[in-house]
Amino acid sequence: MPKLAITGLWLSHFRSYKSAFIEPDARIIALYGPNGAGKTNILEAISMLSPGRGLRRAPADELMRHPENLGWKVSAELESLSENHEISTKSVPDSGRFVEIDGKKAPQTALGNLARIIWLVPVMDRLWIEGASERRRFLDRMVMSFHPSHADATLIYEKSMRDRNRLLKDQVRDAAWYDALGAGIANGQVRRGNYCQSH
Ligand SMILES: Nc1ncnc2c1ncn2[C@@H]1O[C@H](COP(=O)(O)OP(=O)(O)OP(=O)(O)O)[C@@H](O)[C@H]1O
Ligand SMILES: [Mg+2]
Repeated sequence: MPKLAITGLWLSHFRSYKSAFIEPDARIIALYGPNGAGKTNILEAISMLSPGRGLRRAPADELMRHPENLGWKVSAELESLSENHEISTKSVPDSGRFVEIDGKKAPQTALGNLARIIWLVPVMDRLWIEGASERRRFLDRMVMSFHPSHADATLIYEKSMRDRNRLLKDQVRDAAWYDALGAGIANGQVRRGNYCQSH
């Protein structure tokens, strides 16, 4: 089985951490400490090394350390598929989120090629009790961890759905616009469906 390990993790101005360095290895790790010590913050920082909004789905400005509000940065040395990579992601106030892989700027989705991260946390118990969209998102993430290119299909699908819902809400009546978004949704759906059927 391919080995995936974070061999160095740096947090800068991320939630409660002004600056922190952790040097783990490939063994299973248990984090323990009193309530509010910052355990989940570490897991959330690791989750930011994969595409998307992370473990708590928090907006970027919630992640930066208060009261400084300088933005935040998470970097890691990653051992993945027998290769070592340096990855970092940061958020600068009012400028969005940036990703670098081995010193080069990269799109967020490229993170999925290296760090295949899945989480199942207590707050996700709604996966079993609520509607299908959360379950679909979880399955998308799981498929993404095996087939990184699935991230693109998911992004196309979710963006097209969001745009279409906005048009419906604003009562826009432009058939061509709906057709274009419908094509995006279908494209995303077909690509997602292919993965689900063939895997
Ligand atoms: N943006 C932020 N800036 C500064 N501190 C923050 C920020 N966000 C959260 N914190 C602090 O982080 C702490 C919570 O950390 P975390 O959720 O990781 O705790 P925990 O160890 O997981 O606790 P529990 O055992 O209760 O789950 C709180 O003290 C909170 O004030
Ligand atoms: Mg916690």
